[in-house]
Amino acid sequence: MKTQFYSVKPWEKEYLQNKIQTLSLPIEAEFIVDQLDKGHLPPDTNAEIVSVFVGSQVDKSVFDAFPNLKLITTRSTGYDHVDVAAAKEKNIPVSYVPAYGENTVAEFAFGLILTLSRKIYLSVDQIRESGSFAQDNLQGFDLKGKTLGVVGTGRIGKHIIKMAKGFDMNVVAYDPFPDLEFQKTVGYEYLSLEDLLKTSDIVSIHVPYMKETHHLLNADTIKLMKKGAYLINTARGPVVETEALVKALKDGQLGGAGLDVLEEENLTSGEADFILGGHPEEHNLKTVLANHVLIDMPNVVVTPHNAFNTKEALQRILDTTLENIQSFLAGTPKNLVG
Ligand code: NAI
Repeated sequence: MKTQFYSVKPWEKEYLQNKIQTLSLPIEAEFIVDQLDKGHLPPDTNAEIVSVFVGSQVDKSVFDAFPNLKLITTRSTGYDHVDVAAAKEKNIPVSYVPAYGENTVAEFAFGLILTLSRKIYLSVDQIRESGSFAQDNLQGFDLKGKTLGVVGTGRIGKHIIKMAKGFDMNVVAYDPFPDLEFQKTVGYEYLSLEDLLKTSDIVSIHVPYMKETHHLLNADTIKLMKKGAYLINTARGPVVETEALVKALKDGQLGGAGLDVLEEENLTSGEADFILGGHPEEHNLKTVLANHVLIDMPNVVVTPHNAFNTKEALQRILDTTLENIQSFLAGTPKNLVG
């Protein structure tokens, strides 16, 4: 079966080729470096199985361009870059990777917390840029005794809770579907979102992006946060209203932010492509500008959607993706969305 893998790095191609052979998967695989979206359609759109990563945008026009498509499988936990409703309309199943790196992403989120709380990036930058070992501007704060608010206690949220307990932090959490067993074992409190925002020194977001979580953190909810609190977002950019975040940081309402994801992150990271052939009407260019303001703020660390990126996690992603394809071909598809 003709199968295209998009956004594939050389080592991934080699890994996939070897595994496809070991598993004797009956697929004819093509490996493509580019992402897949309506601006990046390949010359050959006859693939029956397509595997994408988060930089792709698989919307209705992409589905329309692939007349033989039978399965789309994303090598990620979040699947908001695939128009699942359009897939459903065409009866094309969508599979994903439900779990590959809950520890991986949680470790990164904690890295962002420590980067901010101990000014680690600023310290390194100061020595590199000026050779100065002065500590005057590098005072941080202890995590012990501070309150971490975890929004979304799924796989990643649970890991970060366990880590925070190891740092002797108080933990509060919000989730419309609380896990009371886990709460009992680990020891933390579930609160309403409002109360969590009012009590937390650091808020870390671990929810999927969907209609209900669009701008969950917005001008009104950010206003509830403790003055000088920190916001960590490793979930998805549009869960936070960018303009409201910039304002809160400028006003000192927030003390800092650690952001692995941004609204309009594809556009922010691909501005040259956009200038050469983008669709301004489909984007919020003010948000892109706001992202640049955030990137330049000393109390903000922005990373390039990199929380998933460890050797171990990526191998688990590729293994699960091949399992998704194998189970689909066997007529017992696994890890379907919805
Ligand atoms: P999960 O599905 O295990 O957990 C999500 C949790 O959010 C669930 O407990 C759910 O009940 C809760 N939730 C749903 N709606 C909510 C709401 N309105 N308010 C509060 N909680 C809500 O997902 P997992 O594995 O923990 O991943 C979370 C997200 O992290 C993914 O959807 C993905 O977008 C993002 N992610 C980011 C990565 C990165 O590299 N930056 C890598 C992997 C995932």
